Amino acid sequence: MERAVLAGVSVQSEASVLSLDDSLDELGELARSAGAQVVAVFGQRLRKRANTYLGRGKLEEVAQAARDRRADVVILDDELTPAQQRVVEDATRVKVIDRTALIIDIFAKRAQTREGRLQVELAQHEYLLPRLAGQWSHLERLGGGIGTRGPGETQIETDRRLVRGRIARLKREIEAVRNRRSLYRERRKKQGIPIISMVGYTNAGKSTLFNQIGRADVRVRDQLFATLDPVTRRARLPSGSPFLVSDTVGFINKLPTTLVAAFRATLEEIAEADVLVHVVDMTHPNAAGQVDVVTRTLEALDLADRPTVLVLNKADLALPEARSEAELYEAAAGLFDGAGPPEEGVVLASALHGWGVGKLLAAVERRVDDEPLPDGVYEIG
Ligand code: GTP
Repeated sequence: MERAVLAGVSVQSEASVLSLDDSLDELGELARSAGAQVVAVFGQRLRKRANTYLGRGKLEEVAQAARDRRADVVILDDELTPAQQRVVEDATRVKVIDRTALIIDIFAKRAQTREGRLQVELAQHEYLLPRLAGQWSHLERLGGGIGTRGPGETQIETDRRLVRGRIARLKREIEAVRNRRSLYRERRKKQGIPIISMVGYTNAGKSTLFNQIGRADVRVRDQLFATLDPVTRRARLPSGSPFLVSDTVGFINKLPTTLVAAFRATLEEIAEADVLVHVVDMTHPNAAGQVDVVTRTLEALDLADRPTVLVLNKADLALPEARSEAELYEAAAGLFDGAGPPEEGVVLASALHGWGVGKLLAAVERRVDDEPLPDGVYEIG
């Protein structure tokens, strides 16, 4: 198991959805998902972004900790420029990776289908391309002089050409998958079957709920990004009419742009949905921040006003004394100013026990039928 030191910054002039502590907690979860053991964590508040990523003093502290704790890797909480990465590598003398590389790595481990693997590989190459030069100048700095400069430059060009060629090929293959998908979609549309997409922050419980709805055997694991490939199942609304439900990739704060681009085909699936089911882990200490990230991601995808049902999931953990769905709703009164959860639009659920699934489907049906739900802002957590 690799031993990892984590470090992150918050920059005063930049608005951020998650606080520095929450973001570092999440980086820790990501690191553990990737198979690392976290041995130290550092955070620093900066007035503006630094070329060295961390301030000089903090960088020294991180380097010291990396030595003391015999770390194999330093993981930083933002996407770094190749230059920043080099500075930190020079200071710490261990491998340095950034949040983007970490997330891509987890995606790579989890991808199951051919399409998922193609998408991840595209992201890996897009990430690599601007960093090739940095890798070679690294060699130059180590050796320098005779035999490194000239051939090094040529090698960079060769590498770039290879990577660009691979990127072009991957894009063509993904395009073919995408075309096939849009054919399926056309067919589904002709049949007039409504499509529901599950969205939510990673680990919110989408796959578990999806299983309850579709009774499908999608793999459920207590891991970030267990779901990379969209899976679609057929199920029935309370009225008996059929619908299709698809599970999608989990969202996360600072989702790398290379991944958003690579997973466009998957995200397009969400764009086709008639109704979105937004699943929230209501017990997560930063549930509200996670809802915010998902909402912003949906905005970026132009999906902000798609009919949505919000599911407050893992209610069994929030209200551990409840032994049934009825008890759950009774106990929930305290969470909603004594009034109990709102009748529609927001559903309290335990995907684990299958509680709230009937209420969810009823809410979905109303949204499918375009019956408006009452407005309201509901506090979570
Ligand atoms: P990604 O694939 O990362 O997007 O995750 P996901 O949103 O699909 O979450 P998943 O369904 O894989 O669940 C994540 C973890 O939460 C698993 O360990 C589930 O068993 C657990 N979980 C899901 N729903 C509930 C629930 O209602 N109650 C409890 N106690 N645990 C739950």
